[in-house]
Amino acid sequence: MTIHQAEFIISNTDVNKCPKELLPEYAFIGRSNVGKSSLINMLTDQKNLAKTSGKPGKTQLINHFLINKNWFLVDLPGYGYAKVSKNKRDTFQQFITDYFMKRQQLVCTFVLVDVRHEPQKIDLDFFTFLGTNQIPFAIVFTKADKLGGTNLKKNIAAYEKKVLEQWETMPIYFITSATNKMGKEEILTFIDQVNHS
Ligand code: GTP
Ligand code: MG
Repeated sequence: MTIHQAEFIISNTDVNKCPKELLPEYAFIGRSNVGKSSLINMLTDQKNLAKTSGKPGKTQLINHFLINKNWFLVDLPGYGYAKVSKNKRDTFQQFITDYFMKRQQLVCTFVLVDVRHEPQKIDLDFFTFLGTNQIPFAIVFTKADKLGGTNLKKNIAAYEKKVLEQWETMPIYFITSATNKMGKEEILTFIDQVNHS
């Protein structure tokens, strides 16, 4: 699938104010700085559609991007960033939870994890939250350009092993790099298949 149009629609902190159209949408979530906004820019071939930063805590709202006038990509704030004040973190957590619990249009969530790191409890807990609420998700390993092939394989095998301690099967996963566009076609093909299923 090619993305020929990507348009910012609205940012907010209230799931009730998200676009009303009944179009399929795909949300990007994960720890702060993991590369959610960069991945959206990579998939859409745009530099600044979603705002990115070297410092964690950049995305603070629910951001809807309309793709090919037909479906949405949704950029969300990261979780687990200790330097955001507790008050702000609680507010984030509230509206993000609300978004996942209430958003009927959400067809699949991409949970991003940095491929360089060992499985983190906060991510495994988030998989459990999604699973408990029957929200389909895929895992996206990010920043693959930062590891060589051997370490990449080793880290993914270790990740899979950890996930299989809790889950019967490994969820579908993608290995990506916003820098060299690895994984782009695979994710877009997957979205296209879900859109047509
Ligand atoms: P928050 O909005 O703060 O939660 O962060 P985010 O998950 O949206 O991360 P963002 O896309 O802003 O990227 C964070 C940093 O990681 C930036 O400096 C990006 O340039 C860098 N980055 C993101 N993806 C990649 C990647 O695939 N490879 C490399 N090398 N750097 C990346
Ligand atoms: Mg972001």
